[in-house]
Amino acid sequence: MKKSIIVAAIVSLLAASAARAEDNKALYDQHCAKCHGEDGKGDTKMGKKLGAKDYTDPKVQDALKDDAAIKAIKEGLKKDDTTIMKPAEGLTDDQIKGLVAYMRAFKK
Ligand code: HEC
Repeated sequence: MKKSIIVAAIVSLLAASAARAEDNKALYDQHCAKCHGEDGKGDTKMGKKLGAKDYTDPKVQDALKDDAAIKAIKEGLKKDDTTIMKPAEGLTDDQIKGLVAYMRAFKK
């Protein structure tokens, strides 16, 4: 009896984290990939135009602090008064953290 409860708990935990990983990808593909690229390289038409960095590059990853990443996603980014990245609307803090984690995984 006890054992089955533990097994059920583990299974539901695994299911929850798998769902979250998929959510991150879905959110990223929907909101971010057009500039940052599906692979994080920023190698898209928009990404090149706006100067998106290559997030597979460890140097780029090291230079980016989590707080700055979260702030940029929440508030957007400007360069010389031009918006280069719009604030993400309607995302929860957890979703934003998930997106940062998703981008971290691009590091080679
Ligand atoms: C319209 C194009 C565009 C979209 C869409 C976009 N970004 Fe960006 N983003 C940029 C550009 C340009 C930069 C600045 C160069 C760089 O760091 O790649 C940037 C920078 C960043 C940074 C680094 C911020 C810093 O302080 O260095 C993070 C993190 C980031 N974007 C995450 C995201 C996430 C997550 C999404 C989706 C919710 C997203 N971006 C959507 C264009 C975009």
